Amino acid sequence: DEDERTERIEAALAELGDDVVVLGHNYQRREIVEHADFVGDSYQLSKEAANTDADYVVFGGVTFMAESADIITDDDQSVILPSMEASCPMAGMAEALQVDAVWAEITDAAPDADIVPVTYMNSYADLKAFCAEQGGLVCTSSNAHEAFEYAFDRGDTVLFLPDKHLGENTAHRLGMADRTVVWDPWDPDGRDAADVVDNDVILWDGYCQVHERFRESHVEAIREERPDANVVVHPECRREVVEAADVVGSTATIRRTVAEADPGETWAIGTELHLAKHLDRWYPEVEVLPLCGDACMDCNAMRQIDPNYLTWVLEELTEGRERNVIEVAPEEKRLAQVALDRMLEVDP
Ligand code: 13P
Ligand code: SF4
Repeated sequence: DEDERTERIEAALAELGDDVVVLGHNYQRREIVEHADFVGDSYQLSKEAANTDADYVVFGGVTFMAESADIITDDDQSVILPSMEASCPMAGMAEALQVDAVWAEITDAAPDADIVPVTYMNSYADLKAFCAEQGGLVCTSSNAHEAFEYAFDRGDTVLFLPDKHLGENTAHRLGMADRTVVWDPWDPDGRDAADVVDNDVILWDGYCQVHERFRESHVEAIREERPDANVVVHPECRREVVEAADVVGSTATIRRTVAEADPGETWAIGTELHLAKHLDRWYPEVEVLPLCGDACMDCNAMRQIDPNYLTWVLEELTEGRERNVIEVAPEEKRLAQVALDRMLEVDP
């Protein structure tokens, strides 16, 4: 039962002491975040990984986050993901091989175009490495704006991957909405590369299935039912949802917004369901509602991190066995680090 499991996790953590640090993303379930040394958004967790001296970083999150932690930590530190099945579907929507092919098509069609690729943290290490090679960088939902500015200092066009919604929302903030295009290069009726390059921002056609479910009608319904409610959403939501909301930001911004609300305020949360539940528990003086009621989803990738797996990897560590180590290949790691370092430079 849960009490027994909690005791086992605590005993293993006590035995491992400073050798282990547990990082938990805001979307992890309660039974994981309760054991985390640090809970935060993707950017905060990557900074925690960069700063820790622990031998083992046990990551409550998804594969791309654990890969980034492996890239950022030293070679003698191990990053452990309690389940190897925790893969973000959006990260899988832009495979480096596909992006390579598209890049070749664009550069053939417009050899003089000065394009800088920017990839969302929610991507695999080989794509981050590709971006570094082409002069680009990584961003998270909390610094996409700064990453675009970095790219526009160095080129004329940004190719943003994989999340079209974060890309579109960022282009809007920069006043570039009219010169932004979503491109599916495999659409037979779609535009060709030469035409597409004549834009400021080219968006890969990826999305997060959790955030795509939010609709403007959900915001309208909340406003009608609860005129006193405020609405905060993640920038992976569709443009019209972001436009209808009061606040938009990363999961850390969403948490801060509720933490700083006055007692008695009501906030509807447009993001993954676990974070809405945490906020309800963490800030009882604020009324927290999921933005789309029962239609709100939890993330099936995040959900793979079962507390039983956390128990297993920690107990194995106490026996000297490292399970589920996430290791990025050396050359990929070196290049991906360049792309991550550029992000840490633009947003220290
Ligand atoms: P944050 O960087 O805002 O924590 O977002 C991560 C994520 O996967 C959102 O879907
Ligand atoms: Fe990926 Fe969406 Fe899950 Fe975030 S919430 S990890 S973007 S599937």
